[in-house]
Amino acid sequence: MKSDSGANLRHIAIIMDGNGRWARKRGLPRIKGHDAAEKSIHDAVEVCGELGIEFLTLYAFSTENWSRPKAEVSFIMKLLSRFIKGNIDDLDRKNVKLRTTGRLQDIPDGPRRDLELAMERTSGNTGLTLVLALSYGGRAELRDAFVEIAENTASGSVSPADITEEMISAHLYNSDVPDPDVIIRTSGEQRLSNFLLWQSAYSEFVFTPVLWPDFHAEQLRDALEEYRIRKRRFGGLE
Ligand code: IPE
Ligand code: IPE
Ligand code: MG
Repeated sequence: MKSDSGANLRHIAIIMDGNGRWARKRGLPRIKGHDAAEKSIHDAVEVCGELGIEFLTLYAFSTENWSRPKAEVSFIMKLLSRFIKGNIDDLDRKNVKLRTTGRLQDIPDGPRRDLELAMERTSGNTGLTLVLALSYGGRAELRDAFVEIAENTASGSVSPADITEEMISAHLYNSDVPDPDVIIRTSGEQRLSNFLLWQSAYSEFVFTPVLWPDFHAEQLRDALEEYRIRKRRFGGLE
């Protein structure tokens, strides 16, 4: 029975929000905010490495973000390629294993190939697993899991009465990744925006007004300190 949150921090998930507002505050176009996000990602990987965290999931692009203006979406996709190409050597040197969650098939060919090459290259690494949530939606993930399970019930290999919570978890995109212990959201918004709906059942939430491009190592350490003093009960008693 897990009880002390401080002793149990395997998976940090971050909703990286506020890039557009960061740019607007400086009188810059929104895309400059996405540009400025890279340093914060770098810091998050660095801090997780120092602390020996096993998994870091970064919400980079949601299924709903496709509804943004075409120019912004295409800028973000180009940025994704640039990020991978510019950071793969460093990530590999740091023993980081890169993975993704979401509908990778929706990502344009160029960045998707860059991602696939980077995942292939780092697949044997044994340090931090960095999961980029791309074209990710919690409802889409659950829908995809339910389709697979429904196929198994239709073929008769599983009877509906035998469907368990573990079975649903096992049909999610990355079934080997543990549920996030803490979900941090920057920029002052206090909502999930379709992130990890199933997996967040017992996650701790840390909301900070800091905009993502201003969220550096110090701010992440502060957020983790807030997590550390929480008492997780998982429905039981202390
Ligand atoms: C987060 O920043 C990045 C993505 C969702 C891709 P936003 O672009 O949402 O920035 P705000 O919320 O408009 O400030
Ligand atoms: C959530 O941010 C998605 C990502 C950070 C990738 P949004 O900016 O898209 O969320 P809403 O629209 O404010 O809920
Ligand atoms: Mg936003």
